[in-house]
Amino acid sequence: MIDPWSSAIVNYEKLIEEFGIKPFHDLIGDLEDPHILMRRGIIFGHRDYGRIVKAIREKDDFAVVTGMMPSGKMHIGHKMIVDQLIWYQEHGAEIYIPIADMESYSARGIDFPEAKQIAIDEYITNYIALGLDPDKNLHIYLQSENKTVEDLAYKLAKRVNMNEMKAIYGFNGSTNIAHLYTPMIQVADILHPQLEELGGPKPTVVPVGPDQDPHIRLTRDVAERFGSQFHFITPSSTYHRFITGLTGGKMSSSKPKTAIFLSDPPEVAEKKLKSAKTGGRESLEEQREMGGIPEDCVVYEMLLYHLLQSDAELKEVYQQCKNGSIMCGECKARAAELMKDFFKDLEKKREKARDKAESILN
Ligand code: TRP
Ligand code: SF4
Repeated sequence: MIDPWSSAIVNYEKLIEEFGIKPFHDLIGDLEDPHILMRRGIIFGHRDYGRIVKAIREKDDFAVVTGMMPSGKMHIGHKMIVDQLIWYQEHGAEIYIPIADMESYSARGIDFPEAKQIAIDEYITNYIALGLDPDKNLHIYLQSENKTVEDLAYKLAKRVNMNEMKAIYGFNGSTNIAHLYTPMIQVADILHPQLEELGGPKPTVVPVGPDQDPHIRLTRDVAERFGSQFHFITPSSTYHRFITGLTGGKMSSSKPKTAIFLSDPPEVAEKKLKSAKTGGRESLEEQREMGGIPEDCVVYEMLLYHLLQSDAELKEVYQQCKNGSIMCGECKARAAELMKDFFKDLEKKREKARDKAESILN
């Protein structure tokens, strides 16, 4: 069982073996210009993505839905979702971004007004600063203020029973009913773009981390159950790997030592990266002889996920690391420099994005 509200690390291979998630690389050749995170294997799995490939190729209408639970600060791992949304925006998708204030209320005890403020200051501001175009087929909304979504959730809940919620989420007799109900809101987040009033049935993809897969499975089942009433097309999904935290475990906003926050001043981000765990050896001598382990290095991961757009340059770092011709000090210094530049630019863009972010929810 996967618990979307705990921060347990997920075993990616197991997801593919046991939960029926398909490897992404099998269909990557069907895309004309796969996203960098797809090419680099960071997006590792999918359900029914063939439908989305087809919609992109044939320029059919399709939707992307991916929400955020406004509970803390955005860290650099969260940027991955925004990068994907930008790519989808370029490929003509209609984009829906629910802000899961109902979920953060039931799972984290955060009140609606506070969730709204976090969503504006942290999430929406950063989404725009990172390059998402707020004026292009983009719908950002608060769950608690979207009557269409709430009504749909209620209707869909009529055909979901307690045993099912227990089996999927491990809910039990002491689960409070607000928490029990919020997955239904997420199901409706994902399916509502297919309502007649929003253009009718269309392929929809939900790019998420694998912790969200229970919601995806429930949504897909519910979509099929309501086939004759709403004619939903079963939604597709993609799954990305989580970025490793600075200390080696999971990067998590609730553990500040593990995370580089998007709102960190550039010098702080630079310093944090310099202190990150690497895949270097005990001594320089040993490293020259045996090479480092980029697969086990937070610095390499930052280059891979975020800092190096050029595949050729990335490959060079990988090889130099492996054959021991570059030492961690030099490699880190270079990555930290890139990080600082990125954060300087983001800081400026965030200043500009702030007012726009405010106006979107008001
Ligand atoms: N549960 C998601 C999270 O914890 C947020 C979310 C709400 C979501 N609605 C969604 C994700 C719809 C994907 C699709 O971040
Ligand atoms: Fe990581 Fe670079 Fe050291 Fe290799 S040389 S282990 S990539 S920091």
